[in-house]
Amino acid sequence: MNAYGFMPHGFCFEWRPDVLWLHVVSDFTIALSYFGISLLLLYFVFMRRNLPFQLLFILFSAFIILCGTTHLFSIWVLWHPNYYIEGYDKALTAIASLATFVTVIFVLPRALRTALSLEALVALRGKELAATNAELRAQIAARETVESTLRQSQKMEAIGQLTGGIAHDFNNMLQAINGGVEMAQRRIAQGRPEDAARHTDTVRQTVERAAALTSRLLAFARRQPMQPRAVRLDELIVSIEDLLRRTLGSAIAAINFDLRLNDGGWPVLCDPNQLESAVLNLTINARDALADGGSLTISTTPRHLDAADLAGHEGALPGDYVDLVISDTGIGMDEATRLRVFEPFFTTKPTGKGTGLGLSQVYGFARQSGGLVTVASRPGVGTDVHLFLRRAELPVADAAAAQPAAPAATGSARLLLVEDQAAGRGIAAEYLREHGYEVVEAEDGPTALSLYRGSPAFDLLITDVGLPNGINGRQLADIIRETSPELPVLFITGYAGTTSLDQLDTGMRILKKPFALPVLTAQVEAALRARG
Ligand SMILES: Nc1ncnc2c1ncn2[C@@H]1O[C@H](COP(=O)(O)OP(=O)(O)OP(=O)(O)O)[C@@H](O)[C@H]1O
Ligand SMILES: [Mg+2]
Repeated sequence: MNAYGFMPHGFCFEWRPDVLWLHVVSDFTIALSYFGISLLLLYFVFMRRNLPFQLLFILFSAFIILCGTTHLFSIWVLWHPNYYIEGYDKALTAIASLATFVTVIFVLPRALRTALSLEALVALRGKELAATNAELRAQIAARETVESTLRQSQKMEAIGQLTGGIAHDFNNMLQAINGGVEMAQRRIAQGRPEDAARHTDTVRQTVERAAALTSRLLAFARRQPMQPRAVRLDELIVSIEDLLRRTLGSAIAAINFDLRLNDGGWPVLCDPNQLESAVLNLTINARDALADGGSLTISTTPRHLDAADLAGHEGALPGDYVDLVISDTGIGMDEATRLRVFEPFFTTKPTGKGTGLGLSQVYGFARQSGGLVTVASRPGVGTDVHLFLRRAELPVADAAAAQPAAPAATGSARLLLVEDQAAGRGIAAEYLREHGYEVVEAEDGPTALSLYRGSPAFDLLITDVGLPNGINGRQLADIIRETSPELPVLFITGYAGTTSLDQLDTGMRILKKPFALPVLTAQVEAALRARG
């Protein structure tokens, strides 16, 4: 009992420990939780300085803290009858509760409005976002337009460079041909035919240069008439090693030229002549890059390329390849140059030194053979050109068998010659007749067919591939061979176009235009001989 005559609250419980401790534990837990909640609430208010209705939160925390203290007092008074103090504490809690209640009443309408405006804010943000998105899309579209215009103009520039390059080179050669022919005619008119020969020789050499140029252009366009067969890369490179060394010329003194050949015994499928000229082009490039000496290594390695290796090389199929690398430690090239090296007529060499057609030939050849070519280079360090050629399923063909037979002096067979270009046809026919052949000429497929049907006793069909009037050379050959399956066919073509000559049947061969006339008779002879 205290001064006021109050008894401790425990007395009411008759100091029964169970009920006493039930109250103590429960009140203490409630108090602890209240303090915890309010402390967290205050922390939240403190951290979110811009929180709306901060006062409400603070009041609410105070009110909860006071609630907690009333529970602590409930424990205290179990043993200490300070009921006045407990009462004051409750009064304080009551005031805080009331203040919170009144504040809530006043704040609620504003809070509701704010909630609404929050929705409005979200809607607004949504609109802003949509507008930003639209703007972004517009920017992307604008950029795409600019990019496509740029691409278009780059394409036009490349085409301009290409046509300009061709026109320039051809004009030079036409000049030489024209001059040569004029001079030859003058000499003949002057009764000095022996002096005409010098000029006609110049004309011939120029024509050969022109033919080499069109051949490289066709290679880049992947329209080069190809005669692919299974080739062992290692053997081919060894067979042209001398030629490659000669190509290095005097530079070889300063160049460490090395072959590291290991094609794993895999033959590759390609036209060996084209392959030779690709290796030659790459070796010349390496030589030019090695003006100050260094190493030039040609290596072969069998490699399996999967889809990941072929990313960015559309059209190339996963499978086995032989990786032919021409590697030099020369001047190398920067990235801007590297990206353009396959463009026809792109060259960094001085005028007269390079035409810029070397790598475009290599590129076209690789792609037309189902392979690919990549260039890795660093300025001052060197360049590696990788030419990946597809492994051939076929066995290696006998190289000797693929060579044209030695030309025969004369022949005596009946030939059907189909060619739409009258000038070329006339000359070929005249030359063949001079060599003893009987030549029947046709200017297109239908004419050839009716001539053949009128009198089918021909020993050989010689036909251009690109022919007008509905039947191309390949189709003509197939139609005639339905009735005469043994008839040999010699295709003469300068442009493979879309007509596939990759799959030639037995008894069919290709002669590439332009050709020297003795090569024509040699091919005719070989075709006739093969027939037996
Ligand atoms: N091994 C290399 N090292 C450094 N640069 C190279 C190498 N190979 C090619 N290039 C660069 O690529 C350009 C194009 O090469 P490409 O073979 O197509 O033409 P070119 O050698 O200039 O002329 P062309 O081969 O027709 O005589 C070269 O001018 C050169 O700048
Ligand atoms: Mg070159």
